[in-house]
Amino acid sequence: MVNFLTIMTTIKSPKPFSASRVTLSQLMHLEHANLLGNVHGGWIMKLADEAGALACMRHAQRKVVTVAIDSMTFREPIKIGDLVTFNAVVTYTGRTSMEAEVNVHAENPVTRERSHTNTAYLVYVALDDEGKPTEIPQLMAENDEETQKLTQGKERQERRLKEKRIRESQ
Ligand SMILES: CC(C)(COP(=O)(O)OP(=O)(O)OC[C@H]1O[C@@H](n2cnc3c(N)ncnc32)[C@H](O)[C@@H]1OP(=O)(O)O)[C@@H](O)C(=O)NCCC(=O)NCCS
Repeated sequence: MVNFLTIMTTIKSPKPFSASRVTLSQLMHLEHANLLGNVHGGWIMKLADEAGALACMRHAQRKVVTVAIDSMTFREPIKIGDLVTFNAVVTYTGRTSMEAEVNVHAENPVTRERSHTNTAYLVYVALDDEGKPTEIPQLMAENDEETQKLTQGKERQERRLKEKRIRESQ
């Protein structure tokens, strides 16, 4: 029988990248349009945030809130009628915070033409039942590519916290 200690050990044990991977797909409708008739960037930001949050909830097995979003650049417009896919995975863990990488692709479902429109990095904090930041399992790299992602995620988080300190000291 699974007891409380087993559940807590499972939640706190280091987890591989694969534990958090999630894919969200959304067909772009007229309601997603901007004044130019392409997809409004705000929709992409919202869905990227949702995909990142889902990856972090899977990793932490906790509710999470967004604490930081890195700058987002769009390489090309996304069109109404495109199927947009958000692939999210946790790429760095701190004590209570974690970074998610979200890769966004747009596909014309008729021609099957597919483009990588952007990569976004977002940071989330896991919350306990009282809504306070709570400890999360560490992320475990299983190959060279994941080790590199983890190192780069740590560097990005150090840069964010440095920028935060500068902002707060002004
Ligand atoms: C997220 C929140 C709970 C953090 O509370 P806090 O008192 O700042 O807690 P802490 O200072 O302990 O920070 C918690 C973690 O977030 C990280 N963090 C805080 N600000 C950050 C920032 N600007 N960028 C990256 N990470 C940040 C800290 O480094 C810490 O990480 P660690 O535990 O892994 O070391 C609080 O800021 C909050 O509720 N923010 C609003 C969240 C929200 O509503 N999001 C939706 C926006 S519409």
